[in-house]
Amino acid sequence: MKTIVITGGAGFIGSHVVRLFVTKYPEFRIINLDKLTYAGNLANLTDIEDAPNYTFVKGDITDASFLEGMFAEIQPDGIIHLAAESHVDRSITDPLSFVMTNVVGTANLLNAAKNHWKDSETAFEGKRFYHVSTDEVYGSLHNPEDFFLETTAYDPQSPYSASKAASDHFVRAYGNTYKMPVVLSNCSNNYGPNHFPEKLIPLLIHNIQLNKPLPVYGKGENIRDWLYVVDHARAIDTIFHNGTLGETYNIGGFNEWKNIDLVHLLCSIMDRKLGREEGTSAKLITYVTDRAGHDLRYAIDASKIMNELGWEPSLQFEEGLEKTVDWFLANHEWLDNVTSGNYQSYYQGMYANR
Ligand code: NAD
Ligand code: DAU
Repeated sequence: MKTIVITGGAGFIGSHVVRLFVTKYPEFRIINLDKLTYAGNLANLTDIEDAPNYTFVKGDITDASFLEGMFAEIQPDGIIHLAAESHVDRSITDPLSFVMTNVVGTANLLNAAKNHWKDSETAFEGKRFYHVSTDEVYGSLHNPEDFFLETTAYDPQSPYSASKAASDHFVRAYGNTYKMPVVLSNCSNNYGPNHFPEKLIPLLIHNIQLNKPLPVYGKGENIRDWLYVVDHARAIDTIFHNGTLGETYNIGGFNEWKNIDLVHLLCSIMDRKLGREEGTSAKLITYVTDRAGHDLRYAIDASKIMNELGWEPSLQFEEGLEKTVDWFLANHEWLDNVTSGNYQSYYQGMYANR
């Protein structure tokens, strides 16, 4: 039996990766290692929490000695690393927590894996360290014909993207220096169920329901490339199993949207779903002060993963957005508990003595 540690498995994307691995690979032991910060929430995983091949461990990747002890105990064969501070706006007000979790945390994980694996009988054979990263490391595109390729030079512009870029460099450095079996991916904006309502799409859905203003930064002209979260989880599965060691894969849906166009599309879907007259929700749109250093455009060229590994997105954007809205409307309780912090105090209390 292989033992796979998935870090950040209680978060948005991590919860979809954990669910996919637990259900698809009953022969693997899946360990979800998560600190349960404000963004981590075990209610994202209630449907699989009793599966015999699933274990949750509450722990902090910034704690090196905890990681050494945990790895000695559970003997992981693979690590899929998603734990991070992930919100750009928070990185602007509190950059150092991003340095701690994203840079120091990743270096700690690499180090714990290296120390544990190199002393084992088989050393790095059959082992794999997979680092999940973001397209934001490439910076901001200005020419409409340009796309981010795996070879695009790093040019991070926010404390968040700088911390993710630094973590990517550490992963490659461990691959090069210690010959650790590493693989990386850089993905565009995800959306879907379990998305924390500080990010654009769930924030809009929440505010439309409550008839609250819909804050659009600047003129709403920034462009993002959106991918349904389950398709990202499928790509992670593909890369973990079939990706070439030492390689990086860009993941995206060739699906660029100007923010303001996306806001209007979502308003129109919500009007229909809530039985409101078309145009009602769009009246809530409020232009607000722009994000400091706001990247203009992200756009991924995902040809490499499509051509070499045969992955492709399964959903069109409109279909994915409908599914997402349906999920949020059917899960009021999730949204209420997440925004009030109820889940956090409940689950933190449950694991207080670990
Ligand atoms: P998220 O904020 O929803 O979840 C992060 C998870 O990490 C939470 O469960 C949190 O409790 C956990 N965590 C945070 N600090 C930790 C620590 N010190 N120790 C252990 N666990 C800790 O994030 P997400 O949006 O699901 O993103 C997951 C990963 O994917 C991140 O590495 C992010 O950079 C990357 N990514 C995200 C997107 C996106 O659109 N959301 C796109 C590309 C890449
Ligand atoms: O590109 C991948 C990245 O996508 C991930 O690495 C990050 O973890 C993830 O948070 C996301 O970053 P963004 O900054 O692009 O996502 P966010 O949802 O915060 O914002 C999307 C766009 O919408 C961005 O141009 C800022 C704008 N925005 C955002 C919020 C929260 C608004 O106009 N109003 C808002 O209230």
